[in-house]
Amino acid sequence: MTDAQLEDDDYIIGTDAVEIARLGQQHAIWRESALAGWRRAGLRPGMTVMDVGAGPGYAAFDLARLVGPQGRVIAVDQAPGFLEALQTGAEARGLANIETVESDLADFDWPEGVCDAVWSRWCLSFVPNAAGVLAGIDRALKPGGIFIAQEYADYRTFRIEPCEPVFERFIEAVRESWMHFGGDPEIARRLPVMMSNLGWQAGPMTPIVHAARPGEWVWTWPTAWLEQAPDRLAELGFLDRDDAEAFRLFLHARQQDPVSLMVTPMVLEVVASKPR
Ligand SMILES: C[S@@+](CC[C@H](N)C(=O)[O-])C[C@H]1O[C@@H](n2cnc3c(N)ncnc32)[C@H](O)[C@@H]1O
Repeated sequence: MTDAQLEDDDYIIGTDAVEIARLGQQHAIWRESALAGWRRAGLRPGMTVMDVGAGPGYAAFDLARLVGPQGRVIAVDQAPGFLEALQTGAEARGLANIETVESDLADFDWPEGVCDAVWSRWCLSFVPNAAGVLAGIDRALKPGGIFIAQEYADYRTFRIEPCEPVFERFIEAVRESWMHFGGDPEIARRLPVMMSNLGWQAGPMTPIVHAARPGEWVWTWPTAWLEQAPDRLAELGFLDRDDAEAFRLFLHARQQDPVSLMVTPMVLEVVASKPR
């Protein structure tokens, strides 16, 4: 057990410039899946869409283009550094239809019945009370409003082959760190029950998994995080210093080996709608 603590506006992965750049690279790789999901869910120009846990706003920028000047994006996040980056980014892109709200989702004063859709990606895994956040989303949605999430269904499905025991220990350290701060690395597979408890109508479910070899674009998605994470986890007491070093050597070896295989942790897209 660790007595690790975070700053109030921080979250386990961090919020600095390196993390902002990493989230940009991550969105570039996952953008295609986000756009496909928004099409499946029926997002359209003119809508008001809330992005919960928007981070520095890479998805919010695309949502703002999708809903167009007649629509609106409400980007909510607890990290002021991310929201500053979002505002600067929106200005640089000439997007005037994004509003930012700085709040922990646990304390958010959810507006009532203003959203045609709410989007969440890689956020609900980090919140201590996802059912409470969903209740807030229910309040924010208009009747008939759409909820769409792309969240981890099971972090243990992440594989790098040929595998070594230190990889398993690293994955467990990641999961433990999220759970220590009240998160749930398997949140996506719990969403259908939570959504049904709110009386939402279930839409399509779409698993999203990639397989990649070293040198391919997708391979670079988790590697930026895998390079930073061991030190952060060791600092917070979730991983031994020796394991952090062994993990770095493992990752380096797999990167140099052209037959290595990466299978990304399963993301599950869920779509639901609030009854009219
Ligand atoms: C992995 S990032 C994902 C950012 C963005 N959704 C994306 O897909 O690029 C997780 C985000 O959730 C935010 N977050 C985590 N817990 C939160 C909470 N309790 N309240 C508000 N935001 C939270 C973090 O600040 C961070 O911006």
